[in-house]
Amino acid sequence: MIYNSYRDNKPSRVAVSIDKHLYLHSIMSTRSTYTITAALPYANGPMHIGHFAGVYLPADIYARYLRKKGHEVAFISGSDEGGAAITLQAYKQGITPQTLVDTYHTLNKKVLADFGVSFDIFSRTSHTHHHKVASDFFLNLHQKGLLEEKESEQYYDPQLGIFLADRYLKGICPHCSFQEAYGDQCESCGSTLSPQELLEVKSTVSGATLIKKRTQHWYLPLGDYEDWLKQWILEDHTDWKANVYGQCKSWLQAGLKSRAITRDLDWGIKVPLPDTDGKVLYVWFEAPIGYISATQEWAETHGKDWKKFWKDPQTRLVHFIGKDNIVFHCLIFPSMLKAHGDYILPYNVPGNEFMNLEGKKISTSRNHAIWLHEYLEQHPGKEDVLRYVLCANMPETKDSDFTWADFQTKNNSELVAILGNFVHRTLILCHKYFEGEVPPLGTLKAEDQEVQAQLATITQAIGEHMEAFKFRQALARWMDLARLGNKYLADSEPWKVWKTDPSRVETILHIALQIITHITLLGEPFLPFTSKKLADILDLSLEQPYVLGKFDYLTAHHQLKQPVLLFEKIED
Ligand code: 2FM
Ligand code: ZN
Repeated sequence: MIYNSYRDNKPSRVAVSIDKHLYLHSIMSTRSTYTITAALPYANGPMHIGHFAGVYLPADIYARYLRKKGHEVAFISGSDEGGAAITLQAYKQGITPQTLVDTYHTLNKKVLADFGVSFDIFSRTSHTHHHKVASDFFLNLHQKGLLEEKESEQYYDPQLGIFLADRYLKGICPHCSFQEAYGDQCESCGSTLSPQELLEVKSTVSGATLIKKRTQHWYLPLGDYEDWLKQWILEDHTDWKANVYGQCKSWLQAGLKSRAITRDLDWGIKVPLPDTDGKVLYVWFEAPIGYISATQEWAETHGKDWKKFWKDPQTRLVHFIGKDNIVFHCLIFPSMLKAHGDYILPYNVPGNEFMNLEGKKISTSRNHAIWLHEYLEQHPGKEDVLRYVLCANMPETKDSDFTWADFQTKNNSELVAILGNFVHRTLILCHKYFEGEVPPLGTLKAEDQEVQAQLATITQAIGEHMEAFKFRQALARWMDLARLGNKYLADSEPWKVWKTDPSRVETILHIALQIITHITLLGEPFLPFTSKKLADILDLSLEQPYVLGKFDYLTAHHQLKQPVLLFEKIED
């Protein structure tokens, strides 16, 4: 063997290297604190790819990326266990609301963990601590005289003994006479309706004819916050995503009305005032307070100061949500926070649009969905393949579409053919020529410098896209790293050069390994399971912060392990 003295051949230092203290300094001086929330999923059913692509995956990518950059992150979510959506689902299934939420809290918490979502806490709004925090929040506004108290007529289902929310009412549309129009919209002629306009109103749940009853509730007078919201969003937050900003603008232009923040229901957080039996806090009032109560719960058990995450004006509060949640997170919750006065306001609300499935809207009731727990049963070990495909097709600016054909193509032509191929070839050659040791970097040729320059450019672009919540583009650029690697190997042909110039091969493979290192570290937010495998092979710590332009994560003579198969081809 030509190269059997390899182990004794002491390396030169990596050419492009930055002083360690400089790294640390640059990390520490720009270290920020982030409170990242992912919408609390209702614990009334399992989760599907639309939930994951729209909320939990982008939130996880962002949280992981920020940690990698050395920032301090609290990544918060939990089950939303209040509201009529829970009681009605329990009624339909013939079980108690408690059994329902226990079942789905457990299932959803597990499935999100199985997909690698790196929450610091996934709590639940049935937690007694949350009840206390939400009640105190309500009392704070009530005591300051910031709530309105009003009586109104609402539809009451005599069979179920409950008042029904607009979307659970159906009747005859006054415009087109469609028999099955909902309390808020006629799906036949598209008119926006109020329940008062519907004729012969019935319950969609029990089928009973509804009666009107007077009831008293507390309202948040959103109109009082309209001017402030206009300034805060339309003037000061022009940086928010266009889909989010646009929705806020149309709500604000239409004018904001007072919203009831209590409901007549026997499930949820009791209104903390005397003589209010049968009344609870509206789920959309108390659920976002769950972000605060869950942060406190986490901080308490992890030696952290929760106030840093909710009261420090330097902290960046970021809410990941789907488009149906925009009004609650951009207008209502901020108004609540403003009214309360003790808490920071969101820094950004990167809301996503929806993901369709094979050209049709995902529908829970028609079972037109890919359920996350079923995917895992059918495709064990392929968590990252779904993460990759969903991220590549994330509904960031408009609704997107998931198809199984595209899933197969992205797996076979990108993960296997580009990424897997590059990594495998490089590692095999390192083992073949250098007994699995990182070879030293010799004199750089122009083409090597060009590749390193491109590596720096691409990795910088990935960071910029991440910070702008453009995860699709960040992922595409990340895959470009593997393309860069493949092209570099194809152009430099180490397998041919080996016969005549082994030291040149050292340099080529060293640079190829630098590319793999960046793929591993920067890929962790997208494909954490794959990065873990790669880090094991490279014997590289994934815990270290990622530093742009750092080329010496692996130094010469560092021992690599044998490659493992990262992705497998999916047959038709
Ligand atoms: O849309 C939903 O699934 C709601 N459960 C989201 C709540 S987010 C927050 F406000 F808690
Ligand atoms: Zn109609």
